[in-house]
Amino acid sequence: MVFMRAAGLMIMSMAILLGSTFGAAIGIVNVGQIRRLAAKNNVSSVLVFGDSSVDPGNNNHLATTFKGNFPPYGKDFFRGQPTGRFSNGRLPTDFVAEALGYSEVVPAFLDPNVKPEDLLRAVSFASAASGYDDLTANLTNVLPVWKQLEYLKHYIMRMRRLEGERGTKEMIKNAIFVISMGTNDFLQNYFLEPKRQKQFTVQQYVDYLVTCMIRDVKEMHRIGATRLLVVGVPPLGCMPLVKTVMDSTVCVDKYNMPAHSLNTKIKNSLATLAEELKLKSAFGDVYGAIVDAVNNPKKYGFTETSKGCCGTVHMSMEIHVKGKSLVRIQASMYFGMRFILRRRCTK
Ligand SMILES: *[C@@H]1O[C@H](CO)[C@@H](O)[C@H](O)[C@H]1NC(C)=O
Ligand SMILES: *[C@@H]1O[C@H](CO)[C@@H](O)[C@H](O)[C@H]1NC(C)=O
Repeated sequence: MVFMRAAGLMIMSMAILLGSTFGAAIGIVNVGQIRRLAAKNNVSSVLVFGDSSVDPGNNNHLATTFKGNFPPYGKDFFRGQPTGRFSNGRLPTDFVAEALGYSEVVPAFLDPNVKPEDLLRAVSFASAASGYDDLTANLTNVLPVWKQLEYLKHYIMRMRRLEGERGTKEMIKNAIFVISMGTNDFLQNYFLEPKRQKQFTVQQYVDYLVTCMIRDVKEMHRIGATRLLVVGVPPLGCMPLVKTVMDSTVCVDKYNMPAHSLNTKIKNSLATLAEELKLKSAFGDVYGAIVDAVNNPKKYGFTETSKGCCGTVHMSMEIHVKGKSLVRIQASMYFGMRFILRRRCTK
């Protein structure tokens, strides 16, 4: 499934980041191999930044309507509980933490019920509806990246109490930083709000997002990051939500084009930046993985890819698009719903 592909892709990209090439081409993940590789590289933890693709519930604690803490979210999660994940089950990063042998789930930094000890090996600062562009988070009152990084600094202070100054420094140095976002910069922001459209052509906006990414990575590096995995954006024009709204049975180019372009530019800039900053980096091409799965469904053991079949965010959105009554009652509460309603009105 696309969902598991995303998790597999992250684990694969992580292996590449750590200097391995095993199985990279076929995307088969061997837990033993990844754990040995992580141990050999002294990998300490996974620190996650981004949007709903990796937010385990930070938004539950924010004054935003963009929360995923009610059913049907979480229906396939442990005990069927909604957690704030915009998913029926776990997120790709949860599987990554499990593959590394850390925990079954990545805790949300803002969750008041997690103890500092629970955050030693994995923590997410991500916030659903956020993006590279600070304006994207501002539109829904969620955490922009600079705020996520501010929480990283709080985290480091807490870890010092547990691990001491030197231990914490070592831990950050050996952590794998993960960034996963970009979707909302287009779906919630550029294609919906007039502000950026007036300022930028879509290509200029892509370039703007890349400058934001560079700024964020430099800040992470300043804080102590030495390993970074950036996950690209999916083919937005192939998302069931977008196809539904655009009344299209095929992928919508207008949305795929900037997504593809952003991925290419992020990948290239990341490579240059990593060399400049002496960072180890990898780019997770989720776009390529999904397009491949859509074009070769049999290869991955499933035959229906045009419906939201695939766990994570995409599926959640499809459920709510189809569940008309839900849409009406709770429209503004869902990720992507501003997009749908606004679109419908302007048609
Ligand atoms: C891992 O830690 C050991 C002991 O501190 C050190 O000798 C080694 O160089 C480290 N390896 C890497 C890849 O950082
Ligand atoms: C969003 O931007 C407005 C205008 O610049 C500012 O007043 C407001 O504080 C921002 N909100 C957040 C949550 O950053």
